[in-house]
Amino acid sequence: MDNALVVQDLEKKYGKIKALKGINFEVKPNEIFALIGPNGAGKTTALRIIATILKPDAGDAILYGTSIRKNPEQIRPVISYLPEEAGTYKNMTGFGYIKFMASLYTNDPKLRQKYLETAFEIAGLEGRMNDKLATYSKGMVRKIILARAVMTRPKLAILDEPTSGLDVINALEIRNTIKKFAQSGMTVLVSSHNMLEIEYLCDRVAMINKGEIHKIGTPSELKSEFGSQNLEEVFSEVVK
Ligand SMILES: Nc1ncnc2c1ncn2[C@@H]1O[C@H](COP(=O)(O)OP(=O)(O)OP(=O)(O)O)[C@@H](O)[C@H]1O
Ligand SMILES: [Mg+2]
Repeated sequence: MDNALVVQDLEKKYGKIKALKGINFEVKPNEIFALIGPNGAGKTTALRIIATILKPDAGDAILYGTSIRKNPEQIRPVISYLPEEAGTYKNMTGFGYIKFMASLYTNDPKLRQKYLETAFEIAGLEGRMNDKLATYSKGMVRKIILARAVMTRPKLAILDEPTSGLDVINALEIRNTIKKFAQSGMTVLVSSHNMLEIEYLCDRVAMINKGEIHKIGTPSELKSEFGSQNLEEVFSEVVK
């Protein structure tokens, strides 16, 4: 099969606001693909639709042959979604949160143990796993939620701004975790408005602005097409 995910003519309106005006893109298996664009471009809307949380007005997305619109219940077990804001479960400890999440995914104790071990390795919060999430820094919360999102090794991980608000070291760690998981057989769809950082992370990017995709390509293809030093420069040319 050529593509992991095929997004077809997705449209979404909120009242009069056209958040998505018919977007199309394809993601290959084990690829890290990014939707990049400024605030309000429609990134979160697109990711929430693909994660089956939001219904589109028109269009569809097909994950390994299954329609997210027609068969969302078949999609949900094989994807994971890291929301932009993840401020829930504050009274749980790190350990309790991961254990609870693992129990939602499986009843098999062996598999659950495997998920826990994977999550602990990713989160890397030695000595803090018995503390409440409320006492964690932003970076620690982001890491534990990323650990939750990839511990089951979903076919598609949908990560909305996974490194937003993080310092250089924590952002680097998170990028490395995402890369490692993609290399071991996971497809990743990520969003970001940080175009410089995304160059280091992604195989291909789609530039989105005001609900429309303007360009798709590898960072190096796009830079050479526009004779630009970086993706920010490309973006400013593309949306001119
Ligand atoms: N629940 C909502 N109700 C009304 N309008 C919304 C809602 N969610 C998003 N929008 C609008 O849809 C458009 C796209 O928003 P979206 O959150 O998808 O953008 P984004 O690219 O994720 O932006 P950011 O980088 O700020 O996260 C914006 O104009 C936004 O105001
Ligand atoms: Mg967003």
